[in-house]
Amino acid sequence: MNTSTQSGVDIQAPSFVQHPRIISWVSDMVKLCKPSAVHWCDGSEQEYQFLCELLVKAGTFKKLNPLLRPNSFLACSDPSDVARVEDRTFICSKDKNEAGPTNNWMDPDQMRQTLQPLFEGCMKGRTLYVVPFSMGPLNSPISHIGIELSDSPYVAVNMRMMTRMGKAVYDVLGKEGEFVPCIHTVGAPLETGEKDSNWPCNKTKYIVHYPESREIWSFGSGYGGNALLGKKCFALRIASIMGHDEGWLAEHMLILGVTSPEGKKYHVAAAFPSACGKTNFAMLIPPKGFEGWRVTTIGDDIAWIKPGKDGRLYAINPEAGYFGVAPGTNEKTNPNCMKSLTHDVIFTNVALTDNGDVWWEGMGSDPEHCIDWQGKDWTPEIAKATGAKAAHPNARFTISATNNPAIDMAWDDPQGVAIDAFIFGGRRSNTVPLVTEARDWVEGVYMAATMGSETTAAATGAQGVVRRDPFAMIPFAGYNMSDYFQHWLDIGDKLAATGATLPKIFTTNWFTKDADGKFVWPGYSENMRVLKWMIDRLEGRADGVENVFGISPSYSEINWNGLNFTAKLFDQVTQFDKDLIVKELKLHEELFEQLAYHLPKELTRTKVKLEERLNA
Ligand code: GTP
Ligand code: SPV
Ligand code: MN
Repeated sequence: MNTSTQSGVDIQAPSFVQHPRIISWVSDMVKLCKPSAVHWCDGSEQEYQFLCELLVKAGTFKKLNPLLRPNSFLACSDPSDVARVEDRTFICSKDKNEAGPTNNWMDPDQMRQTLQPLFEGCMKGRTLYVVPFSMGPLNSPISHIGIELSDSPYVAVNMRMMTRMGKAVYDVLGKEGEFVPCIHTVGAPLETGEKDSNWPCNKTKYIVHYPESREIWSFGSGYGGNALLGKKCFALRIASIMGHDEGWLAEHMLILGVTSPEGKKYHVAAAFPSACGKTNFAMLIPPKGFEGWRVTTIGDDIAWIKPGKDGRLYAINPEAGYFGVAPGTNEKTNPNCMKSLTHDVIFTNVALTDNGDVWWEGMGSDPEHCIDWQGKDWTPEIAKATGAKAAHPNARFTISATNNPAIDMAWDDPQGVAIDAFIFGGRRSNTVPLVTEARDWVEGVYMAATMGSETTAAATGAQGVVRRDPFAMIPFAGYNMSDYFQHWLDIGDKLAATGATLPKIFTTNWFTKDADGKFVWPGYSENMRVLKWMIDRLEGRADGVENVFGISPSYSEINWNGLNFTAKLFDQVTQFDKDLIVKELKLHEELFEQLAYHLPKELTRTKVKLEERLNA
């Protein structure tokens, strides 16, 4: 077998790789990208330590004080590379209609021609890491495998936390197993002798998906979902296409288990847009008044859901770690998360304190001084005078799921867990009430399809503007959004045909604001009160009150033990304002106009019914 390229780079695969197609693909990519070395990752602890040390030497990582934060590191990115770039993300299907009006599209041949000169020699002076990973437990019938080629050691170490990464993946693949090829470069070739930057990247960025060949090509960014290709690119965009073709769902959802004091366990999957509370909800500790209740985490960001023979939906978390938002996380909002962050963490874009620890806005008391994520001095006085943030609003931590003290026993179960309810929740200052239950599956799909949410720092671009974010999937559906709606309707029909009880569907909004711009609902652990009402509905213990949109709780149906939340405040987070609803329905109309091609008739019919109810 050919083990060296024309440039003399040794690409000899280690003996644990026995897959000729992978070896020849790596060889082709080496010829194209021209790295100076190839490193086949085995996923071992030694390799992890070696790469972390390398990152420290390169200046990308700072090792945190081992007494305060053992085995943990801080990376600060280039200020131009801090979030997902939705305007640079493309679905390159042959037919533009397959990508649909909510995705950027380019003809695949044209995209390949565009990328060719960018990838030519893009890894010069760098090492190419071959990162084998499984999304989902190794050998699970729900899992799928990918190989990411990346010139970023930061990506390699993050992928080890976020996925099942390492040589066992090759055992599953054998000589010819299927994998999704993912190729990533920071797009910053080094000339001989040129000094590298702490966070190499390129002003030009392309995050590209080819649905037909199921390939991912990412150029120019080293950050999060742009670069850790198992996450959004594979587990959502490509997997949603696989799911559409094969009859399953890939969703932007947390999965939690909730156990009652009597020991009865339920499983809930919830879709909230980016930075709208999935990690917090998945790790919730029930508040005072809920003694004996327990919430456990299966996943915090992505769910792969497949119909079982019994007509129920079974969900796994394809990831093995959390890439979570740091700002706002503290002992009160998310104590389980704070415990998870005490050791073995990679922080990105938080602040460095004078004693070698980390800090972010909303963590707790202000430090007198720290170094902000851009390397500048930060003090409370400077912040007051200039508004400077110590941590970037999209600063994140990477941890292994096993760091979580509330991890669910079944989180790694290859069979997944049976879903009892879905929640869809946007971030809305007004219009949308605390919680509403859909009267049936179709109405639930309508609610999810028309969900709006205020944009957050998780993506570059305008912040805090309401946009439609169907199913919290607007940046992540790998195919036409209307076909995706139809797929959800079809799954409902299929389950109903088995005679099984379908999961209930709810919408929530934790984010209603008062006239002073303050959140009215206390949120976080108090969201348990809403979750409990949902369980009461599943058990037929609460009647709810029917309204235009569905069924909502009456004040007396919520357990208020341990919380002083008056009926007046409850009205504030649950009342319907007819003018706002009329405006909202106009926005649904606009969405449906945009999605007219293949839009399911059931959804337009549901809209008509809602309007009739509103005008009755
Ligand atoms: P991605 O990882 O980006 O997909 O997002 P996520 O949904 O996991 O986001 P996360 O849980 O990290 O949300 C973080 C943001 O939501 C922070 O700004 C929190 O303060 C805010 N948040 C979470 N739960 C609540 C809540 O119940 N009420 C309010 N007001 N804010 C919340
Ligand atoms: C999101 O933006 O929804 C995330 C973070 O979960 S990232 O992986 O960067 O996309
Ligand atoms: Mn997410």
